[in-house]
Amino acid sequence: MKEGVLFEITRNTLDTGLRGVPVGYCVTSFVDPKTGLTYVGRPIAELVNRDPIELIYLLYFGKLGEKEQVAQFHRDLNARAACKEETMQAIEALPTVGNPMDCFAAALLIAGMYEGTGDYREDCLNVIAKLPQLVACVINTHAKWGKTPDPKPELGYMENFVHMLQIPNKTFLLTQAMRLFNLLHYDHSGGNLSTFVGKAVASGLEPMYGSLAASMAALAGARHGGANRDGLQFVMSVLDELGETASAADVEKLIRDRLARKELVFGFGHAVLRIEDSRASVCYDYCQKHFPSNPLVKIALLLRSEGVKVLKENPKISDPYPNIDAISGTMLQAAGFHYPDYFTLLFGLSRCVGIAIQIVYERLEARGGKGTPIMRPSYLYKSRL
Ligand code: MLT
Repeated sequence: MKEGVLFEITRNTLDTGLRGVPVGYCVTSFVDPKTGLTYVGRPIAELVNRDPIELIYLLYFGKLGEKEQVAQFHRDLNARAACKEETMQAIEALPTVGNPMDCFAAALLIAGMYEGTGDYREDCLNVIAKLPQLVACVINTHAKWGKTPDPKPELGYMENFVHMLQIPNKTFLLTQAMRLFNLLHYDHSGGNLSTFVGKAVASGLEPMYGSLAASMAALAGARHGGANRDGLQFVMSVLDELGETASAADVEKLIRDRLARKELVFGFGHAVLRIEDSRASVCYDYCQKHFPSNPLVKIALLLRSEGVKVLKENPKISDPYPNIDAISGTMLQAAGFHYPDYFTLLFGLSRCVGIAIQIVYERLEARGGKGTPIMRPSYLYKSRL
C-alpha cells in the first residue's frame, strides 16, 4: 500500500459491512486485534478493579481523575440521576410485549422528550446519570416487578441500579458481577454497530437521546447485543445434552457433531479480534474464582478450550477464539441473575455510556470543534435484472 493509505477499497471490499475501513477517530477506546480492548490506552484487564465512576471519568475526560475529582464527578452525576415523574410514568405505561430492548429505545425517546436539553454535553452527563434508573424502570415494567424506587446518592453506580431493580435475592456477588459486566461493556472502539449507528444518527444533528434510541435498536439484534443471551442458551443446551459430568472429549465431540450438522457454535470469533477477547478472559477468571463448581461455568470453560481446538483446524476461520458473549451470560446466570431476556438491556445500560461520550466528541470536538459532517458514504449502482 502507498504511504499514507490506511485502507484500499476495491470491489472485493464492497458489501462486507465496512469491515476494517477506517472512518474517523475514537478518543475513548481501541480494539487491537492481537491485544484486545483498551480504555484511553489502558488494557481493560488492568481497569476492572476500579469503580465504574472512575472509568466513566476516564472515558469522559480522557484521563484518570484524582480521588477528589472523581468524588466531585460522582456528586455531579448523583444530582442528575433521578428521572422526572413524567418520564417514569410514561415508561411505566409502555407495552410489555416483545423484546424489552424496544421498550428501552422507547424509554430513551421518552426521556429525550421530558429531560432533553438539546446540548450534547449536558445530555451526555444527564443520560449517563439517569441510565441506571431508566433501565431498572424498563426491566421492572416489562417483567411486571412493580414500581422503581428513586436512586440513593449514597450508593455506587451499579449498587444503585441493583437497588432499583425489583428482583429477589440481591447478593453481594450479584452486584459485583453486574458491576464487572457493566464496566467491561462501556466502549468497544468506534466501529461496533450500535456506536456507529448512534454517531451516524447524531451526525444529522438528532439530539443525544434520539441518537441513543437508534443505537439501542442496533444493539438489540442477535448478531450484536443479543448474542449474550444466545451465548448462555448455547452453554445451557450443551449442559442439557452432556450433563454435569461432561469431559473435554465429550465437549469436543459435541462441537464437531454440531459443526458437521452445520449448526452454529455460539460465542466464538469477532470482526476485529484475533485472540481471546480480553473482556472474556476477565469473565472466565471471575467465574473460576467465584463459581468454580457451577455446572454452566464448567461447561463454558470446556467450550473455551475445546472450541478453540476444533475451530483452529479450519483455515477459513480467521478468529477461532471466544468473545465476551461466550461467558458473560453464564457469569450473570451463575451470579444469580436468571433473566436472559434482560441481558441485552444490561449491555445497553453500559454501552450507552461510551456511545454518548463518542457522540460528544464527534459533535463538539472533532475537526477542531466543527464536528464531523453528516455521514454520507457512497454506493455503486448495480442493476438486479
Ligand atoms: C461489542 O462490544 O460491541 C462487540 O464486541 C461487537 C464489536 O466490537 O463489533
